[in-house]
Amino acid sequence: MRIYFDHNATTPLDPAVLDVVTRVLRDEFGNPSSVHHFGQRAKAVLDDARSAVAALLSGEPSEVVFTSGGTEADNFALRGVAEALEPTGRKHIIATTIEHEAVLVTLKALARRGWTTTLLPVDASGIVSPDALREAITAETGLVSVMHANNEIGTIQPIEALAEIAHAHGAVVHTDAVQSAGKIPVNVRTLGVDLVSISAHKFYGPKGAGALWIKRGTRVAPILTGGKHERTRRAGTENVAGIAGLGAAAQLAARKFAPEGTRLAALRDRIDTAVLAAIPGTAINGARERRVPNTTNIGFEGIEAESLLIALDLEGIAVSTGSACSSGTLEPSHVLRAMGLPSHRTQNSIRISLGAGNTDAEVETLLAKLPAVVGKLRTVTGMRR
Ligand SMILES: Cc1ncc(COP(=O)(O)O)c(C=O)c1O
Repeated sequence: MRIYFDHNATTPLDPAVLDVVTRVLRDEFGNPSSVHHFGQRAKAVLDDARSAVAALLSGEPSEVVFTSGGTEADNFALRGVAEALEPTGRKHIIATTIEHEAVLVTLKALARRGWTTTLLPVDASGIVSPDALREAITAETGLVSVMHANNEIGTIQPIEALAEIAHAHGAVVHTDAVQSAGKIPVNVRTLGVDLVSISAHKFYGPKGAGALWIKRGTRVAPILTGGKHERTRRAGTENVAGIAGLGAAAQLAARKFAPEGTRLAALRDRIDTAVLAAIPGTAINGARERRVPNTTNIGFEGIEAESLLIALDLEGIAVSTGSACSSGTLEPSHVLRAMGLPSHRTQNSIRISLGAGNTDAEVETLLAKLPAVVGKLRTVTGMRR
């Protein structure tokens, strides 16, 4: 029996979502751009999914543009706004040091094309302060992009306050809600943002399907050009089955996240409390009271995170060292580094991210095995820091 505690990397398909995806793959093969019956049926699938995504975010269906996932949505937001703003002379973008690579690497590409970028720092608990934005923002700032919840430590950023400051300076506001959508409420109106990225595979939908919510009136140039799909905002025949899965997952999430959140937070808090009590030299990374309910990130003195990951995998338990994109390398986490943690902490921390299938018994199995696994690794390393 293997235990999966890596839901921030990806989630399994919900069985109801799988049913929808397979039905659409089988029965709705039409091209949604076709005028005939087959096309219109496929278009109806897209319409339903668009409404479901809009409902999850409290936006309008016409404001939802389907993408191939979170990475494309982030690229679309940053590159699309940058291009649309070019004639205005506002060539400064502000983000944070703890963004996902989909944002950080895209910003580097924009910097090579003459954009200036500022990365706001976070405090030791992994939270960005509105004052930092107040200091960094100028009349040149065209876009402020701050993630809603962090993928490694789960911290939730004060998006409402940041958006207010950005708008007071005339900047467009994007939030990467890939790790919050489906876990906690993401209400685009109360957040006060202009653009929101989401990705289906983080909330029991299929990989390769996501969306960028674009507030009506926000100027965003397309990054994929061609046909008139998605009202000329994103060319290319839509991934109808994937989008149907996104819609089904969005519907389920809207119904389930409140009770699931409470359940997962209790399991997560049980892990935190038990690990801190049973294993000396451990610490929780990130603000414990401002995190998505399923995520914890724990440092273990005297071990390498990768070794712990492998040792737990041999015990049948899957965790992560942080962002999936950098696993397999011994790179310290850029998020933990940005929090100012000493270098040993940036290399000895693992992320445990819970999800729908996880049970009390699985958590107890982890807690039963962890002290011995950590103890053994510490013997091997001589408990070096
Ligand atoms: C915060 C964040 N943004 C963006 C992405 C990229 O999403 P996708 O895997 O759908 O491209 C991820 C995935 O790990 C993420 O955690």
